[in-house]
Amino acid sequence: MPQRVQRIVVTGGAGFIGSHLVDRLLGIDSGEVVVFDNLSRGRLANIAQHRADTRLEFIEGDVADAKAVRDVLRGAQVVYHLAAQSTVMGAVADAEYTFRSNVIGTFNVLSAASQLGVERVVFSSSREVYGEPITLPVDEDSPLLAVNSYGASKLAGEAYCRAFRRELGLQVGILRLANVYGPRDIGRVIPTWIDQALAGRDLLVYGGKQIVDFVWIEQVIDALVGVAALEGPLPPMNIGSGTGTRIVDVARRIGRFVTGQPHIRLMPARSMEVTRFVANVERMRQMLGIAPPLDPLMHLGHLIPAPVTAAGL
Ligand SMILES: NC(=O)c1ccc[n+]([C@@H]2O[C@H](COP(=O)([O-])OP(=O)(O)OC[C@H]3O[C@@H](n4cnc5c(N)ncnc54)[C@H](O)[C@@H]3O)[C@@H](O)[C@H]2O)c1
Repeated sequence: MPQRVQRIVVTGGAGFIGSHLVDRLLGIDSGEVVVFDNLSRGRLANIAQHRADTRLEFIEGDVADAKAVRDVLRGAQVVYHLAAQSTVMGAVADAEYTFRSNVIGTFNVLSAASQLGVERVVFSSSREVYGEPITLPVDEDSPLLAVNSYGASKLAGEAYCRAFRRELGLQVGILRLANVYGPRDIGRVIPTWIDQALAGRDLLVYGGKQIVDFVWIEQVIDALVGVAALEGPLPPMNIGSGTGTRIVDVARRIGRFVTGQPHIRLMPARSMEVTRFVANVERMRQMLGIAPPLDPLMHLGHLIPAPVTAAGL
């Protein structure tokens, strides 16, 4: 890997994780950063803070469009491939779009990267590839038994990453992200519960007993940037906190922050959702030197508007 990368592509760079990655990349002066996003869930506002930075280029397009992907990747050294239908419920609602974006889109990125001599691709996979784990914590050699179409699409993406590596020597790092939380996230449980609590409504909790491994956005960005710089073998790696939290406890904690008195309404569990996951993060610790905090939700307060936080704390 050269010391100074000239052109980095972030697919999905207008989304939640992608936009934080863009912040970091521009912050460490890594050269030109190109965001490629179809704005299906991403927002230009997420990267608007860099509007005046000539190193950032935004290209609207779809990863399912092979030619557009090739055009964007031309001249790139590193590609962070984050563009995807990124939620379990979204994938249930539109399995075909999920297949196009997550499977064909990933194939297109890998294919263009290998044809164009890209030095490193980082693929944002998911803990959903494991499905319903047999034992906790889940290490990277556990069986991959995805149970929903989102997990299936990430599993297929991973399989293509391995095939391109073995057949064509493409350097691909696979990160299996746990449940990421942070500013700019939309539609997932933590931002949804914060919005419900701020509006004085009940917090709707589906199931409630699910065990989830929440990981703070900045730790995920450390991992993405770290894996792009790793030398040597690139085995798949869990990125999580290594600590499980019952989701009803997260809802209670948010409710306490915001109103002092959480109003939780328990709803029936949704069958497509995995009921428990805790990542074994030893590989992450050893290969990337990342040490997750003891309390994975220690940053929750950063997501709640300041006057409320002051009162709630
Ligand atoms: N947030 C999490 O907890 C989490 C957990 C595991 C894995 N991941 C993965 O990390 C990546 C980023 O997730 P996120 O949370 O930032 O989600 P996000 O939805 O905020 O970001 C995904 C981005 O991809 C774009 N996109 C979607 N389909 C596209 C397509 N066909 N072509 C081009 N752009 C497209 C969206 O507009 C969006 O900006 C995704 O691959 C997701 O599957 C996220």
